Amino acid sequence: MAAAKEAGRIQKLQFGKKTPVEYKGETNPVTEVDKLCEKTIVRIILESFPDHDVLTEETPFEGKGSPFRWIIDPLDGTTNYIREFPSFAVSIGLEVEGTIQVGVAYQPILDELFCAGKGEGATLNGKRIHVSEVTLLDRSFLCTGFPYAIRENPDLYLSYFREFIIRSFALRRPGAAVIDLCYLAAGRFDGFWEMRLHAWDVAAGSLIVTEAGGKVTDFRGQPFDIYSDEMLASNGWIHDEMLQVIKRING
Ligand code: IPD
Ligand code: CA
Ligand code: CA
Repeated sequence: MAAAKEAGRIQKLQFGKKTPVEYKGETNPVTEVDKLCEKTIVRIILESFPDHDVLTEETPFEGKGSPFRWIIDPLDGTTNYIREFPSFAVSIGLEVEGTIQVGVAYQPILDELFCAGKGEGATLNGKRIHVSEVTLLDRSFLCTGFPYAIRENPDLYLSYFREFIIRSFALRRPGAAVIDLCYLAAGRFDGFWEMRLHAWDVAAGSLIVTEAGGKVTDFRGQPFDIYSDEMLASNGWIHDEMLQVIKRING
């Protein structure tokens, strides 16, 4: 929590100040703020846990073979950040022998700190949160995101988007996966899907959703793996209906 808040403080301080941007691919930006936040988070974590492993977005992984692995997205929503669209967050998960035990996400502009501990529930600024009770896809408020490589296979990603925007009550593409997941956990959204996310995008958020009473699977309804390509998350009530929509598309 301390590391997430410190990185969030840096993001808020630098917000709107035209931080230098580089590109990791045609449409995948990284800023000086991403890198500074990553260094800050890793420093704070390793001060307390020098033997633990850290897997971060902006630095190649060098494991020490520890059973403890911190999985960090120092700034989720970089495009939003660059364009001064105030929806972005820090995401930190702790995986212990393959199971996520802790998840923390901090959205600095709204000062919202989402936390979860395995078996301990999920909170927003210290208060328990729970997924929504919307039971029908027809009444649902969904969110999604697209991979940076959308141009490689646009029809596939758009086929899900097309179907869900017709079948739901409303659909958004806010631009930071961890915020999508935390909002689902807090009952603001009812369902979420995305392909080709990375472990750092979903480690914290997947635990926050399940600890808030939600469900997270792959596109066939099998248990979710943070290192895999497909994520379907929901309040649980609309999960089967969402799976059916996906199944119909995949044939
Ligand atoms: C991105 C955001 C976005 C999602 C992309 C991610 P980044 O992360 O979470 O919502 O659609 O797939 O890569 O690059 O801003 O950390
Ligand atoms: Ca991300
Ligand atoms: Ca990022």
